Amino acid sequence: MANFWARKSTAELTSEAADSGGDETHPPRRTLSALNLVGIGVGGIIGAGIFVLTGHAAAANAGPAVTLSFLLGAVACAFAGLCYAELSSTIPISGSAYTYAYATLGELVAWIIGWDLILEYAVGAVAVSIGWSGYVVSFAKDLGLVLPERFVSSPFAFDAAQHGWSSTGAVLNIPAMVVIAFITTLLVIGIRESARFNGFIVVVKLIVIALFIACAAPAFSTANWVTPSNPGGAFIPPNAGIGIYGWSGVLRGAAVVFFAYIGFDAVSTTAQEAKSPMRDMPIGILGSLVICTILYVAVGFILTGIVPFDRLNVSDPIAVGIDAAGVSWLSPFIKLGIVFGLTSVILVSLLGQPRILSTMAHDGLLPPVAARIHPRFRTPYIATIATGIVAAVFAGLLPIGLVGELVSIGTLFAFTIVSIGTLVLRITEPELVRPFRSPAIWIVAPGGAAVSVFLMFGLPVDTWIRLGIWLAIGLAIYFFYGSRHSRIANSR
Ligand code: ALA
Repeated sequence: MANFWARKSTAELTSEAADSGGDETHPPRRTLSALNLVGIGVGGIIGAGIFVLTGHAAAANAGPAVTLSFLLGAVACAFAGLCYAELSSTIPISGSAYTYAYATLGELVAWIIGWDLILEYAVGAVAVSIGWSGYVVSFAKDLGLVLPERFVSSPFAFDAAQHGWSSTGAVLNIPAMVVIAFITTLLVIGIRESARFNGFIVVVKLIVIALFIACAAPAFSTANWVTPSNPGGAFIPPNAGIGIYGWSGVLRGAAVVFFAYIGFDAVSTTAQEAKSPMRDMPIGILGSLVICTILYVAVGFILTGIVPFDRLNVSDPIAVGIDAAGVSWLSPFIKLGIVFGLTSVILVSLLGQPRILSTMAHDGLLPPVAARIHPRFRTPYIATIATGIVAAVFAGLLPIGLVGELVSIGTLFAFTIVSIGTLVLRITEPELVRPFRSPAIWIVAPGGAAVSVFLMFGLPVDTWIRLGIWLAIGLAIYFFYGSRHSRIANSR
């Protein structure tokens, strides 16, 4: 049993951080600046969450107080973000939460988290690629091009109320598969090229949001807060059931929009390609989180001030807002910007996943082939291509709702472990050099874990069952492969 709790020592971690990972003959290149890292964070964060879920959360849960839901979501992420910032500057290795768990809670927990992160990254890319496909179809339609229904959506639907699957009549979601194939190719070619492409998209995305805010703000009026369910026009509409309006609606709204914040932690997967990870990891993680929080709060506030919230339960709430503000001419540009914007979320997710897999392979928990670095491109190409193929297959087959909830539960689970791990490391190795130290760790770390677990309870039972099945499969693989090939455990 002792091996399950084997921890990576600080000395091992320090030497791994210095050798920049990968396989011995072809280390990856350290090319990413602090600005690139903030770009990767913003690129990975702003996506389907703000462009799609804001409308649902306002209409179904919080009303105009979706602004508060965004603030609450930000507080939850800030706790976890501070912990990620501390650990990523202290242990700058590309495995992210997996590595931190290995250093603090032992190999078994590390494996569980590494396996769980597949839900955040690979499945995250699947979720956003399905959202991307929806926006592409809608944009094409605006241009008079009707794409055949059978080839742009999932062949299966899941009815949460009936706990049952049904066939939709569609064959495959081909656009979702194509975008994953395209991005996988880019990621194989190079991290610098990928960061550059990401930087371009981030600029487009920020322009879209700035345009929305600037053009819609003049139409803001609290008169739009008045709806049949909110006749008094209150900022927080009266309670109409658990999770619907009132403070409970604000909380449920926070669980829904939490998805919008996922991605800042992806910065930590590039630690071994960063020029100065000890200084720049916290800048990338916390900087991107602050920028996105400001934008989200502004968009939530303005959107619910230009359209009565009961009209926002649509898949393109921003486009509805644009129309309501009387600037319909802007709509195609915004849609195109959103299509671009979602691309970078897929890119950052598909960038993070292979780096975690290759770190796990480096440790012997996965076959060594997953750590192989391309001799010319210097990227973990086998892990990148394998991730791309699996993600493309699922993107072609699965419905977005189910996938999105899996991403949220997987991420929240990782946040819980990272928060606990940060505190454990403070206790077990107080002397360790920490280039960034989270303030008030005794509040931040338990707070991060508690808020994450709390938000997990906001997700449906089916999602918990799927998480359980996923982790059980992972444990089976660990017992048959990882525990026998572990480099750390076998060296003891
Ligand atoms: N935060 C990412 C999004 O909203 C996952 O698309």
